[in-house]
Amino acid sequence: MSTHTFNRAIVRTPSRSVVHGLRAVDTGSPQYEAVLREHAAYVAFLQSEGVSVETLPLLEDFPDSVFVEDVALVFTGAAIALRPGAPTRRGETSEIVPTLERHFERVLHLTKGSAEGGDVLTTANAVFIGLSARTSAKGAQSLLQLLGEIGHRGVVVQTPPSVLHLKSDCALLDEETILCTPRLAASEPFPGFRLLLTSAGEEGAANALAVGDQILLSQGYPRTAEALAKAGYEVKTLATAEIAKIDAGLSCMSLRWRS
Ligand code: GLY
Repeated sequence: MSTHTFNRAIVRTPSRSVVHGLRAVDTGSPQYEAVLREHAAYVAFLQSEGVSVETLPLLEDFPDSVFVEDVALVFTGAAIALRPGAPTRRGETSEIVPTLERHFERVLHLTKGSAEGGDVLTTANAVFIGLSARTSAKGAQSLLQLLGEIGHRGVVVQTPPSVLHLKSDCALLDEETILCTPRLAASEPFPGFRLLLTSAGEEGAANALAVGDQILLSQGYPRTAEALAKAGYEVKTLATAEIAKIDAGLSCMSLRWRS
């Protein structure tokens, strides 16, 4: 099955508390209405590509709960409820479990260590798990076992130091190709894949999202966009400047699978 084609997605409306979301570097808080606009445009794009999107209600107690990708891994027929490494995010998991149980025949639960979905890159033959400040070695080992139970092969790699998530620095473009920052590529984490590197100073472009035949990229990375276009990809850009103030990317705002 193709891993970059999906027809179902779950998103969560940003809460007003999103302005207090976690961030590695404080460049000012995002403006709520602008976050709503960016989120709505993201959802509209997925829908315009034929994706059926379920929007979950906002959770004021969890500022980062708009980043649904971090609390679960979803596959055709099965899901794994994760344990976020950020203490303020741990309660988000129990909020999404009933939704997972509605959509998936099997729902497994990570009970040891911590792991966030932003640290997990799913490809056809391997599920790469990046160790980071949010995903512990214990969580990764436990996740390997759970992935095995649902027929997936996990591979543990290292997220670059001080990078939030593995997928802050990479995205699957197609079955053979990964968009990757030079700092992640340096550790050769994806043997057998063709790597396209983000341009110098455009590391933020790496959290792209393949949607059908298009690559969704955040605005503001013109050289990477051009390189992708030259490599034959159809690139579509979206504004993410407000939500990026709390370290958002394009993958983290949805859970995606093929039903
Ligand atoms: N603000 C996203 C996160 O740190 O989890």
